[in-house]
Amino acid sequence: MWNFPLFPEAASTVANQIDAIYWVLVSVSLFFGMVIIVGLAYSAVRYRKGSKASRAGAMNDSLILELSWSIIPLTIAMAIFTWSSKVFIDMHVAPAGAMEVYVVGKQWMWKIQHPEGNKEINELHVPIGKPVKLIMTSQDVIHSFYIPAFRIKQDVLPGRYTTQWFEATKAGEYHLFCAEYCGTSHSGMVGRVVVMEQADYQNWLSGRLGGDMMAGSGEKLFAQFGCQTCHRQDSGQRGPALDGLYGSIVTLSNGDKVAADADYLRESILNPGAKVVRGYQLLMPTYKSQLTPEQVNELVEYVKLLGGIKTGGQQ
Ligand code: CUA
Repeated sequence: MWNFPLFPEAASTVANQIDAIYWVLVSVSLFFGMVIIVGLAYSAVRYRKGSKASRAGAMNDSLILELSWSIIPLTIAMAIFTWSSKVFIDMHVAPAGAMEVYVVGKQWMWKIQHPEGNKEINELHVPIGKPVKLIMTSQDVIHSFYIPAFRIKQDVLPGRYTTQWFEATKAGEYHLFCAEYCGTSHSGMVGRVVVMEQADYQNWLSGRLGGDMMAGSGEKLFAQFGCQTCHRQDSGQRGPALDGLYGSIVTLSNGDKVAADADYLRESILNPGAKVVRGYQLLMPTYKSQLTPEQVNELVEYVKLLGGIKTGGQQ
């Protein structure tokens, strides 16, 4: 929009659309506010006590007036609603093939995991010009992931994944805030987002590779916790097989159908009784106290891989 100094930089594809909505709302409010204030002031002066202005012909009702002050605001409100809903939906539905990054909020830091294995704390490195989908959860209280320059803010909740996506348009460093009061050091729960040219991002990724890919770490956990004793095709089928599961539709014991997305996998690891697959008994214990949120993310990445679907990062 313009470079008004009180505004954060606009560095994502959605930023200018959000600003446009903001300016239209402010302008419409100012315009009607002025019409009312000017009319009010004019009448107050002209018809003040003792003024000689004629009071004849005062109107008691007018259908035209009633209709116009109902229909005009309704039209304006519906236009704003339609427009902002479209932007809202666009910015909440990540494009297919977006690279995925996991975020875990914790009093009081942001922990980031890239599927390639890189981990960061209070920093998020992303490439320019590529949609990035954040898969976020909290290990304690509610936090909120807020990047003003991208005009995105999404609550991060314990007990489930929430998602948010963006595409950065300008290389640089931007503020990352927690926007939900989460305790003593809420104000210190800040970080930075580093937007890099694609080549620089690839260098950054490979330069920091040391550990396993997330899916690799997940595979180790899968073996460590003995998941394969129940969940492999050749395991006697005590639990549902996981090959091809991710992205499919699962029928539950109560007949409901659910999509096997990341949140479903996460819930099934931590609270296996919540959604039992049709034809199976609830034999699985919860792994809530044995796994960190990061390890759950790694297991989810591994199960995604079993689904034969390319996970985030390289597309
Ligand atoms: Cu986390 Cu405020």
